[in-house]
Amino acid sequence: MEKNLYEKIANTIEQQVREGIYLPDTKIPSVRKTSKQFDVSVATVLQAYRLLEDRGIIKARPQKGYFVHSLPKRSQSLPTQTTMTGAPHTSKVTSIMTLLNQVLHASQKSDVTQFAAAIPKGLYLPIRQLQRSVGRLMRLEPEICATYAFTPGSEVLRRQIAIRMLDAGCQTAMEDITVTLGCQNALLLALQATTQRGDKVIIESPAYHGVLQAIDVLGLQAIEIPCHRETGIDLSSFEQELQKTKVSACIVTPNNQNPTGATMPPGARKRLLALAQRYDLVVIEDDVYGELGYAEQREHALKADDKDQQVIYCSSFSKSIAPGFRVGWLVGGAWQDKIEALAHAQSLASPTLTQTAIANFLENGAYDRHLRKTRQAYQENLARCVALIQQYFPEQTKCSQPQGGFLLWVELPESIDALAIYQHAAQQNIVIMPGQAFGLHDRYHNYLRINYALPWDNSTDNAIRVLGELCQANLHLTS
Ligand SMILES: Cc1ncc(COP(=O)(O)O)c(C=O)c1O
Repeated sequence: MEKNLYEKIANTIEQQVREGIYLPDTKIPSVRKTSKQFDVSVATVLQAYRLLEDRGIIKARPQKGYFVHSLPKRSQSLPTQTTMTGAPHTSKVTSIMTLLNQVLHASQKSDVTQFAAAIPKGLYLPIRQLQRSVGRLMRLEPEICATYAFTPGSEVLRRQIAIRMLDAGCQTAMEDITVTLGCQNALLLALQATTQRGDKVIIESPAYHGVLQAIDVLGLQAIEIPCHRETGIDLSSFEQELQKTKVSACIVTPNNQNPTGATMPPGARKRLLALAQRYDLVVIEDDVYGELGYAEQREHALKADDKDQQVIYCSSFSKSIAPGFRVGWLVGGAWQDKIEALAHAQSLASPTLTQTAIANFLENGAYDRHLRKTRQAYQENLARCVALIQQYFPEQTKCSQPQGGFLLWVELPESIDALAIYQHAAQQNIVIMPGQAFGLHDRYHNYLRINYALPWDNSTDNAIRVLGELCQANLHLTS
């Protein structure tokens, strides 16, 4: 009985080591702590630890305790199995999310070429300034950790956001703004406030996968309307849909759409607002890439022309300042009170330290310079990436022409399966986002999205060449 017990403890700890809970060279809990945790004698724990030593899992260091030693090597390659065609009961969105989880986790590894997640590398973020700001805040205002920034969020930040909204063509009072946990949270709040389970919501196709997920968890029905690579959502199909279906809301990205990079022309924006007015439709505007347009003058938001308060504006600082800070906002118009009540019920308050650090960064005037620099770098990366694709990818490959942001949408010959490319590339530590993640009907099996906000050097060039060769090989296999 006692033997089983120490073995059981040893097995539990070994499993935790294998799962990466305790990393190599880190200390595992002391004998005394483990004896309390498992409610066993110190002698039993010592037996368990000796067994772990025999197995080569831990090693005792005199006076210091027990440390994780080494493990029999397991494959370091990235996950490549997906369940896109999954179990019969798996919904389409669930299988997209399974795929996404794998891709996003794979893209976080330090030794991969990260073309997958829509996250800029640190080089393109003002990390040094934020570091100074957070340090200064903790030194001079440590009480910031002991304070709640109750919904609608920090006043200093909302003031800065109101100032920036002017560049987007929007006269916004501080009271109109609610701080959120990133843009994803803003989109979810907007949907929650304006729809009920079972309602229909128009989305762009291809769509940002977070929108598919939000619609799914709220029990809403997505209606996918084609989004052109240059001009955005197809308003003729949009209108036809409204003529035959009662739709509660639509989610659109008028500036630098993810994944196509499309920016809607002024006429299309006017028409969209008129349709929303005629069919009594809420427009949820996702402007998360709005400040990253390559043109000299920032494109206005749809919200700028929202005379009838039909638009809920959502954005964040994730793409241009600090994805990890999770600071976003929305301007809720007629739904502001409801949205604030929802935000308050869900999270009460938003993080003080990160909001204040961003507000300080915006206040000191360095943001515009930072934006100019990154937009310039993204344009250079884009040109280099497209030139390499033209050189190495199959001849029929077509690239989008983003006018902002850092995402390239690549259409491969019809017979190529982007999921297979993802799987083979992952084995060579290159991660891309396969097109299957951007729609509900496998329309984008031959597309992939490339994030080009990463330091571009010979190894990045090489990674694009490898992707090209994989596509060529897949093409020959299927033709
Ligand atoms: C179009 C779009 N909207 C919203 C989000 C979510 O942004 P955040 O990270 O601020 O939640 C993303 C992130 O990739 C995005 O691409």
